[in-house]
Formats: sequence, structure tokens, C-alpha cells
Amino acid sequence: MTTSASATTPGYPPSEEFAAQANGTDALYDRAEADRLEFWAEQARRLEWDTDFGEVLDWSGAPFAKWFIGGKLNVSVNCVDRHVAAGKGDRVAIHWVGEPGDHRDITYSQLKDEVSRAANYFTAIGLTAGDRVAIYMPMVPEALISMLACARLGLTHSVVFAGFSSGALRSRVDDAQAKLVITTDGQYRRGKPAPLKTAVDEALGTGDDAAESVEKVLVVRRTNHDENLPWVDGRDVWWEDTVAEQSPEHTPEAFDAEHPLFLLYTSGTTGKPKGIVHSSGGYLTQASYTFHYVFDHKEGRDVFWCGADIGWVTGHSYLVYGPLSNGATEVVYEGTPNSPNEHRHFEIIEKYGVTIYYIAPTLIRTFMKWGREIPDAHDLSSVRLLGSVGEPINPEAWKWYREVIGGNSAPIVDTWWQTETGAIMISPLPGVTVTKPGSAMAPLPGISATIVDDDANPVGAGEQGYLVLDKPWPSMLRGIWGDDERYRETYWSRFAEHGWYFAGDGARYDDDHALWVLGRVDDVMNVSGHRISTAEVESALVGHSGVAEAAVIGAADETTGQGIVAFVILREGIENTGDELIAELRQQVSVEISPIAKPREINVVPELPKTRSGKIMRRLLKDVAEGRELGDTSTLVDPSVFEAIRAKKA
Ligand code: WT7
Repeated sequence: MTTSASATTPGYPPSEEFAAQANGTDALYDRAEADRLEFWAEQARRLEWDTDFGEVLDWSGAPFAKWFIGGKLNVSVNCVDRHVAAGKGDRVAIHWVGEPGDHRDITYSQLKDEVSRAANYFTAIGLTAGDRVAIYMPMVPEALISMLACARLGLTHSVVFAGFSSGALRSRVDDAQAKLVITTDGQYRRGKPAPLKTAVDEALGTGDDAAESVEKVLVVRRTNHDENLPWVDGRDVWWEDTVAEQSPEHTPEAFDAEHPLFLLYTSGTTGKPKGIVHSSGGYLTQASYTFHYVFDHKEGRDVFWCGADIGWVTGHSYLVYGPLSNGATEVVYEGTPNSPNEHRHFEIIEKYGVTIYYIAPTLIRTFMKWGREIPDAHDLSSVRLLGSVGEPINPEAWKWYREVIGGNSAPIVDTWWQTETGAIMISPLPGVTVTKPGSAMAPLPGISATIVDDDANPVGAGEQGYLVLDKPWPSMLRGIWGDDERYRETYWSRFAEHGWYFAGDGARYDDDHALWVLGRVDDVMNVSGHRISTAEVESALVGHSGVAEAAVIGAADETTGQGIVAFVILREGIENTGDELIAELRQQVSVEISPIAKPREINVVPELPKTRSGKIMRRLLKDVAEGRELGDTSTLVDPSVFEAIRAKKA
């Protein structure tokens, strides 16, 4: 996959019709340019504050930022109550679609009642502002309700993707010292119920091994697949017996703008995931602002659909906080795109009249593989804007997306951001920007980014460099939970003397100064838009008793962007049983981390290529995995190891 930048790349100007009605304007850039902090203050005032803020930004403790000083607000009131108060209580907030075909529409007033009930129950069990709550759930309405109820009480939620293993859940529960875990009995996977609560039991352990912070496990009945669901008396409670019995009245309190709204764990270059901390006021300001302008959202008219799972940051910002703070009507879909068949997404678009559709390039490429006759069999004429997120989008997929899903007219917003940035940072403004297939184009109004070389010098057009964010932004992470040093080290040490945030991505400008994001420059892989560290997978592999050493790389993959390729050395005396061993190793990774981290390919090799200082040369393994001529091997201890590796691969 290439994302070739060139001035000759034809641009796609917005249609006059779209431009005439767009939320975004050229003037927005000018206003932000003229007074960046005043611009952000204006955006913050799109929200409802209980106590107005004074100073916009306090950067005196850099890299620890404070935004909207002294301001107090309630995030859940901003997402729910204020729409009801404004007479929009009957508007549908969520068109929920279950995988087996059940569905439920939830209005803003119903949402307010549900969130209040959950908040009342959380208070009844003694949780108070600042406590942490782990949410390990499939995409059921109660997952979003739980997040909002936490926000309402100032409880800091930590959503753990329900596809993660029990081990991954345990380490996150322990790190955050969560007092409450919310889950479901089971979840649907391609039409069949699969257990989930049992994974929580396994994670939390018993006796000496029990996760000591956890007081309660709250279980939503979803699949009803097991009459004898294991139950820990005193610890486990059903949602229907507790939350559902509470009063729908709840008087919210306001919290400081800097109050931690949520933690979200993400992969870094080492094996241990980082708990990214997000604030209330700054985070909501930017999630809300970007939703309004990047998606050109029109209240009461649009139907928005973000295909992400709440387990990822995209699900936080564009399934919960961005859309709901804007009073949007959105689709929340529980299942996979091919259950019961490949028509599922297009049927949903047709049924609900989806106008704005936001998915990852890997899904677009999957649709391409399935063939255009599938979307062509549906009326997708409601779609007026398309979004892409999670990885670079190749120009072929971009063009297909526009033509086949967007009826050759819908503008595409290719949105670059990260778990750490909290909200969209680099993206076209629809109706304003002349877009180029494959380019995220430019930083949004209020955002400042640049591309520099190793010595922090700006790169020229066509030259590859590092993407840095050279000014703080409202939804920036406030740190890594419990590890200030790692926060400084990971993001702020690379260009410390300039005070820039190092994003970990390579990028370049083309001759028209359009910005092209090229992918990670560190040991982080991107598989189907999911971020997985090489170190995590390596550590899972060496966790297998037969493996002495492992090296993992992300190799280019036509559908998933990158695919995980592993090279392992077996311990002395361990027999290579071929497929059987490979299957065991893949299973090991699946159990330790998640099925999404299963290597596409595992090669058993006699040796790994190392430098004299003992560092594994991943770059060379990548060359091998992608079938290229080897790069520079002069620093290798023993260049002949490649003969052996290649022989094994052939
Ligand atoms: C990494 C962040 C943003 C929410 C989902 C992923 C890659 C993300 C783009 C894009 C090129 C992109 C980057 C980034 N990425 N969006 N539009 N074009 N690359 O969040 O798991 O924190 O991953 O995803 O490499 O650093 P995440």
C-alpha cells in the first residue's frame, strides 16, 4: 500500500451546495489563528458550565496542562440533561441495533432516566467522585449508560474492550484499583452467545489471588445463555435487580474542568499498557467541537453512525461524548459487519437513513473485497458525509469509499488523532478543504502540528519526518495513570528542548503543503486500526514454555493495514511439531492478550538477527516478511542468520 504524495494528485473540491450549508468556514481558521486561546474559550462555551472558567490555559507545569481554570461542569448533564431541558427530550439519542436483530430506540429523556438510575445505584453502593470503575461490555446500551453515569458522579471510568482476555482485564483493574466492574453475562459473536462474565470471574480470581480493589460486579443480562452462571454472593449483582429498581431522579453535581473523566489503556513500545488519563472540560470541549465541525453535524436532521467499539478511544469520543454533547441522533450497532451476512451495514444505513458514516480503512478494504454489488443493492442516498479513522487510508480505498458509499458526492474526512490526543487533530473541514485521497490534509483550527527531522528542523516538501504537536490542545492527555515519569519520557523527551509532543508517527508534506501521515515510527503495530505493541506480543509468545525468544513485526497487509508476523526460537530439546505448535502459540497470544493480537504468521527460526549490542533488528525482519531485498546488514553480528531464516520461510 502506498500513499504517494504529489502535487499532481487531483484534489476534490467541495461542491457549492455542500459548502453553502457547511458548519466550517475559512473564517474559523482565521479566528483560531488570530487568538488561539480565545478561540478555544469560544468552543468551550458551546458547553454548559456551572461555574465559568477564568484563565483558558495554564501551561506553567508543562507537560502537565490545565485548561479552563476554575470552571466547573457536569459532563453527563452536557450530554443528556441539557437537551431534555431544551425541549428535545423526545428526540432519539440512540438507535441501538443488536447483533441478533433486536433493536431499541432511546430518546434523550429515556437516556436521562437510565443514567440517573445507574448513578443512584453507584451512589448507593458507596462510590464517590474519583473512584474508578471498569467497564467490560459489548456494545449494549447499558455500556454507554454506565459511562455517562460515571461521568455524572465524577467516577473515572476505564473501559476495557470486551475482546480482551481476562489477563488483560485483570492488569487494568489492578492498575486503576477499580472498585466496581460492569459486565454482561455473555456477548454475541457471529450469531452465537459467548460467555463474558466468566472471563471477569477468571480475571478477578479468588482467595489470595483475588483482585482486592473490587467490591462489586454488576452484570447486565444480555445473552441469557447460561442458567447456572457462576455467581459470587455479596460481590455479584444483576443490573435488573439493582439499577433498574432505582429512582430516575438524580441531582447532579458539577466537577472541576480538570477532574479525570476516564482512563483508557493503550499500547506503547513496552509490554505494559499505559492508562491514558483524560480530563472533563478540555476533553469534552474538543470532542464536542470536532464532532460539530468535522462531521458538519446538523442537530435534528443528521443520523450519525460511528462503527467503532466503545473499547477504543474512537468509541469514547464519537459514540458517546462528541455526538451526545451535540444532541445528535446516532446508530449504535452491537455486532460485526458480516452477521448474519455482508449486507448488514448497508441495511442499517438504509433503515435509519444514516447521513454521516465513520469507519476504519480496514473495513472499507473488506467491503471492496466483498464486492460493490453488496452496497449497490441498497439505497444509500441518505449518506452525505464519510469519515475515516485509525490508519492511513490508501487512495484506492478512498476513491472507492467516495464513489460506492458516498454516491460520488459525499466529502470524505480522513481524521488523524490518537488515544492520547482525545479528539480529532488533523482532518479536512468538509465544505472548506479541497481534499486529496490519502491525505489528512491539515491541522484543524486551533490545532498546531508540524513535521520535523531528527534535529527538530522543519522538513521540506516530499521529505519524511516526525509528526509533532507543537502547542497544547484542550483534549490532550493529562498523563499516564500513576506514572508521571513514563508520560514525560514517552511523549515529551524526544523534542524536550522545544516542548513538543512526539506523536510516534512519520509524516510528510506534499508540494501543496497537504499533510500525509505515513504510520508509526516506533515499535507499535496497527492491525485493522487496532494498536498493538510488538513487545506485548513477544512477551505473550515467550510466555509459552517452548519458546526461548521471540521477535514480532508488523508487515504490510492488503486488508488489515499491517499483519503480525512473529519469529520464534524454541528452547533446547523442544520439538517443532509444525502446525500443532504454531496453533498453540497463536492460542497463547489470543489468551494472553486478545484474538485481535494473534499473529498472521509465526516462523520458527534457528536464530534472530541482532546487533552487537544485542538489539533485535526488526527492520530486517520486516524486509524478510515483506519479501524485500535486505537493507543494511553491516551492524549484524552474524549476517548469515538470514540464510537460515529465509530457508525456513520458503
Ligand atoms: C494511531 C493512534 C484515532 C483513533 C483510533 C486509533 C494511527 C489514526 C489515522 C489516520 C493515519 C492514523 C496513527 C496513530 N492513525 N488515525 N487518519 N491516518 N494514521 O487510536 O489506537 O490511539 O492509534 O493510529 O498511527 O498514531 P490509537
